[in-house]
Parts: sequence; structure tokens; C-alpha cells
Amino acid sequence: MCKPVIKWVGGKRQLINDIKTNMPRKYNRYFEPFIGGAALFFELKPKNAFINDYNNELTNLYEIIKSKPKELIVDLKKHKNSEKYYYDLRALDRDPQKYKKISKVKKASRFIFLNKTGYNGLYRVNQKGQNNVPYGRYVNPTIFEEENILECSKRLQNTTIMTGDFENIKEHIQEGDFIYFDPPYVPLNATSNFTAYTDKGFNEDMQFKLKELCDYIDAKGAYFLLSNSYIDFILDLYKDYQIVIVEANRALNCKANDRGKIKEVLVKNY
Ligand SMILES: C[S@@+](CC[C@H](N)C(=O)[O-])C[C@H]1O[C@@H](n2cnc3c(N)ncnc32)[C@H](O)[C@@H]1O
Repeated sequence: MCKPVIKWVGGKRQLINDIKTNMPRKYNRYFEPFIGGAALFFELKPKNAFINDYNNELTNLYEIIKSKPKELIVDLKKHKNSEKYYYDLRALDRDPQKYKKISKVKKASRFIFLNKTGYNGLYRVNQKGQNNVPYGRYVNPTIFEEENILECSKRLQNTTIMTGDFENIKEHIQEGDFIYFDPPYVPLNATSNFTAYTDKGFNEDMQFKLKELCDYIDAKGAYFLLSNSYIDFILDLYKDYQIVIVEANRALNCKANDRGKIKEVLVKNY
């Protein structure tokens, strides 16, 4: 058993069976350039993988789980769930000079704690890149499970962890590799509650750039599978590939009347 260490908006746990059904039967190496909560990666246990995310706090977390899981666990045991403690820990990034000096283990531990005790597992920073998620007021949140961290650490051993834009993976792709893309989705409409995952956002141009990378992968003889919204823009952009429609629970909106199933697509080149 191995499950995500953090809650992540857009987490793919509920779609895992659909994704697995739509994966190629055989492939060489596994790539996931928008790793987020890493639900699929931890489920698949790939032997040789490359993961990437734009969020350096998140990739630091995976580096530490990979290389120093026991030190991380020791630090995680020190946290206390109170509002004052939460806001004091959150405030550490207000002084960039001081924050730089904090160890990578402590940063990873802080990231998990804020994620599990902050509001709704959100990750949100202000324009200065400072965490501004309010305290979640959960009575008894599970911050971490020791066994799970150790298991995740094992699964990260043969994994290259990269930080930055999804195009980072391009130079590594070879024939027979498999790439799963779970980018920030195109908003369903102008008023939909689209979460900005990064301080830069992910606009239409980025969606076009991603499509170009998919064409490159296809031309290389590698396989890609991509998740996105079920909207005309995406259906049109990927019209030359196979499109499978799947249903997911709506997770981004907390208004009760907006709950229920929504359609998403899986695009593949095989
Ligand atoms: C939908 S989430 C991924 C969810 C993930 N598959 C899971 O199971 O939790 C999208 C991720 O893309 C990252 N991201 C946003 N813009 C990016 C970019 N230009 N390059 C790489 N990663 C980016 C975000 O930080 C976020 O973690």
C-alpha cells in the first residue's frame, strides 16, 4: 500500500482505474511532469521514472521523502495542531533570508503539516510567493502515516525528480517511454472555480505548448495519456488523437448544488 502523502487539488485517486485501463500495456520508462499529489505514480510503482512539478516546495518534499524519510518522520512528530502554531509555522516564509536557511527536511515537514491542517488541502501563495492558506480547524487531522512515508520513499528510489516547466522532460524522452499528463485543466467557463496552482497560472498558450509536446512524443514513438476538461477547446485541439470520456466527482466547488459527476477526457496516441 502506498498513497499520496498530501492532499492535492485535482488529485487523481478517483480516476485511477479509468487511467490504468487506458494506459499502454507495455512501456519503458514512466514520466509524469505535473506530478501534484502523485496518486498515479504511487499506485503504479514504476521501476524507472521521471517526475516534475513547477512547485518547488512540492518537489523538495519528494526529494526528502526519497533521501531522508526517517529525518522527515522525526520532524513531523514535533508538530502541534493549534491555530497559533499553524500561523507561526506559516509565517516562516515571510522573511526570505531566514526561510532560505531552514533545512530542506524542515521545509518538507512544514509543507505536509500546512497541507493537512490548512483549509481544504489548498496550496495558495500571494504575489510574494508566501503561503496564505487559512487554518482549517480540523479536530483530529491525520498529519502523516509513518509506514506510508517509508513505502513512498522506496518507490521514489529509481526516480529522477525535476523542478520547473513540464517541457523539462522533453530532452529525456525516448521511443517506448510513457508520459502521463495531468495539467491544470482548462476552466469549464469563465465563472468556474478554477484554482491557480502556481503563481504564473496556466493559460491557453500553455495548453498549445503542451499539445506540441504531445506531437513531439508521438513522433518519437513514445506514448502519452493526457487528462483535461471535456470542452470544445480540448476536443478540437486533440482531434487527431483518441479521446475517451470519463466521469469524475466534482471536487473544486464546495457549493452543494454544483456537486455531482462531471465529464473529463483522456487523450491518447495509441
Ligand atoms: C492537476 S495538478 C496534478 C494532480 C496530480 N496528478 C495528482 O494526482 O494529485 C497540476 C500540477 O501541475 C503543476 N504545474 C502548473 N503549471 C505547471 C507547469 N507549467 N509545468 C509543470 N507543472 C506545472 C501544479 O503545481 C500542480 O501540481
